[in-house]
Parts: sequence; C-alpha cells; structure tokens
Amino acid sequence: MANLYIGLMSGTSIDGIDAIAASFEQSQFKLIGTLSYDIPDHLKQSIQNLCQPGLDSVQLYAETDQQLGELFAEASLALMDKLGIDADQVLAIGSHGQTVRHAAPGEGRIAFSQQIGDPNIIAARTDCPVVADFRRKDMALGGHGAPLVPAFHRELFSDTTKNRVIVNIGGIANITVLPATGPCIGFDTGPGNLLLDSWCKKHQGKEYDDNGQWAAGGTCDKSLLEQLKSHSFFALAAPKSTGREAFHQQWLEEQLSLLNAIEPQDVQATLIQLTAETIADEINNLDTKIDEVFVCGGGAFNGALMAKLHGVLDASVDSTATLGLDPNWVEACAFAWLAKQRIEGSAGNIAGVTGAERETVLGGLYLP
Ligand SMILES: Nc1ncnc2c1ncn2[C@@H]1O[C@H](COP(=O)(O)OP(=O)(O)OP(=O)(O)O)[C@@H](O)[C@H]1O
Ligand SMILES: [Mg+2]
Repeated sequence: MANLYIGLMSGTSIDGIDAIAASFEQSQFKLIGTLSYDIPDHLKQSIQNLCQPGLDSVQLYAETDQQLGELFAEASLALMDKLGIDADQVLAIGSHGQTVRHAAPGEGRIAFSQQIGDPNIIAARTDCPVVADFRRKDMALGGHGAPLVPAFHRELFSDTTKNRVIVNIGGIANITVLPATGPCIGFDTGPGNLLLDSWCKKHQGKEYDDNGQWAAGGTCDKSLLEQLKSHSFFALAAPKSTGREAFHQQWLEEQLSLLNAIEPQDVQATLIQLTAETIADEINNLDTKIDEVFVCGGGAFNGALMAKLHGVLDASVDSTATLGLDPNWVEACAFAWLAKQRIEGSAGNIAGVTGAERETVLGGLYLP
C-alpha cells in the first residue's frame, strides 16, 4: 500500500541534494530514511551563473532545468534503492527545485521566484507522482512565496506551554515563531551560511568553514559589522524574504572596499557575528518573550555560530535534534509534508508568514 512521501531539497548553499522518505499515518510524522546526493561541479557552476543577472541565458536556464530534473530523479531512485522502496509505495515526491532567482514583492520591480529541476523528468524516471512549483501560487496571491517551511515547523515542533522559535540556517536564514498560544509568524532574517561559505572558499579554498573554526580564531570588526548591518533588508518589516541576489560575495567586497583593510580571518569572524546578530535581533524584538530556540539547517553544525547565538539570545539554544529531528533533514522533510498537503488538498502556506491574501493549496502535480 502506498503510504510514503519523498522530500527533495537543494537550497541556496548549492551544497547538495537532501532526499528523505517519510510517512504521516494518523498525522504522525515518521522519518523512514535519508540520503545526500552530490551535485557535480559543472552543474553547481551553471546554477551559480543562473543566479547572476548577466551570466544567465534562456539556453543555460533550459539546459540546467533538464539536467537538474535528471539529477533529482537519480537522487530519488538512489534513496528508494537504499531503503528498498518501490514506486507503488510512494504517494508523491515533493521536489522544491533549485532556486535560481527570487525577486520578493514590494521592491519596486516585478516579483517572481524561479525554481528549476524539471518535475516531468522526475515523474517519468521514478514512476512516482511529483509535486513541484510550490512557491508561485502563494506569489500569485500577493505573497513572498517564502518561507514555506513554517507550516511544517508548526505541525511538528509547536508546544502549548513554551514559546519557541525554529531557526533554519541554510544559505539564507529564516525563523518560525511558535508561541504557546497565538498565531505563527516567520520570515527570512538575511544571510545564513552563504557569505561565510564564499569568503571561506576564496581565502581557505574550502567549501565551508568546518565548525566555524577559522572564524573562531578571528576578531569581529565593529565597523564592518555596522556597515553590513546597514543593508536595507535588515530594516524591513515582515513579511520579508531574500536570496543570493541581495547577499553575495560581490556585495561583501563592495562593503569591504568602503573600509580600511581587514584581515580575512577577521572578516569571517564578522560574518558569523552578522548571521548570529541579525537572527537574534529579530527574535529579541518580538512581542512574545521566547523561551526556547531550536536550530536546523547546516548552520546547526557550525559550533562557533551556535556559540555566538547562545551569546546574543535571551533563550535556550539547541538544535532540532533535541526535538527528535536531525537538523540536516528538516527542510527536505518539510517538502515531503508539503507534497502531502497538495495530495490531500490542504493548505501549505501561512498567510501571516508569506503575506499572501489567503491560505491555499500549493504546488503542481506531475503524474508519471
Ligand atoms: N560542519 C559544519 N561546519 C560549518 N558549517 C557547516 C557544517 N556543515 C554544514 N555547514 C553549513 O551548512 C551549509 C548547508 O546547509 P543547508 O543544506 O541547510 O543549506 P541550504 O542547502 O542552502 O538550504 P536553504 O534552502 O535552507 O538555504 C553548508 O554550505 C555550510 O555552510
Ligand atoms: Mg543544502
């Protein structure tokens, strides 16, 4: 009997595809198994080019959409093989796709969000129904189409006695506020890991600063921190969302050029402080006093960042592992859940989070 959902996530960090299988029987979430799937370097480069106006083209867009469709299908099949799952056990695969551009509403330009990785190919190769294109219905209703994980966080992590915040630190960071009573809110807070990754890559030749060790040996530069925090995004009121087009290496270099030379390691230390403070500022400024903060996404594995969060937050700070879900897989699980919502005809967005006119069923269905 079909009772499983698969979730596929490849986020703004472009670090790889996260694939999970889960069941939701009697509304009980159960993680069945997980798999990380590499993105080959040439595809990472194509995605990075597509994220930069000027280096993109319709040809590259269409080719990468096709190639990522194949890769998401391979990741699904590898997961199914690893777990011994047949196609007829799968109710649907929820595929977020790879974001190549996110233009939030309210910035004086046409709002849109583009995710690629052709779901037709995933459906054809796996023989499973696929739900994809989760963001655009919310945007059609005036919303940001982001973040979409808060509804899943609310489903899984809310508590009737504690005011909680879930912080997802991927390339971009976002928070979900789960008061013991009252409505859930959530929004992007700004850069999570993406500036840390690109600066580390440039100066250390590594994909990321393992455990934040390099940053931990540096000193935060107050003038740089102030300069970075003057970005207009941080002053915006929610709902708000952002992406690679606002926070990228070139923006960082431009900010650095306005100041006296700073040691690369001190820049890294400042970037960690920026991520921690911009998350904490939002949480500390909420009307609700927060008791507990739980971190998911790759940032939960950055010890130096977690220590900084402890320092600047007036609440306990742990990873979602404390709540029973490994921080690596929360986002992919959210897209399995969003696929379930689509199949069941239930809403996937929270209007108070995205700013959409109303709550609605999200995603298109692609049959095998
Ligand atoms: N051991 C570690 N030490 C430091 N940083 C880590 C570690 N493990 C993962 N990370 C960071 O986490 C990032 C990946 O996080 P994740 O997969 O949650 O982000 P994402 O794919 O961009 O998702 P999102 O859609 O939320 O932006 C890596 O690029 C790296 O910066
Ligand atoms: Mg990732």
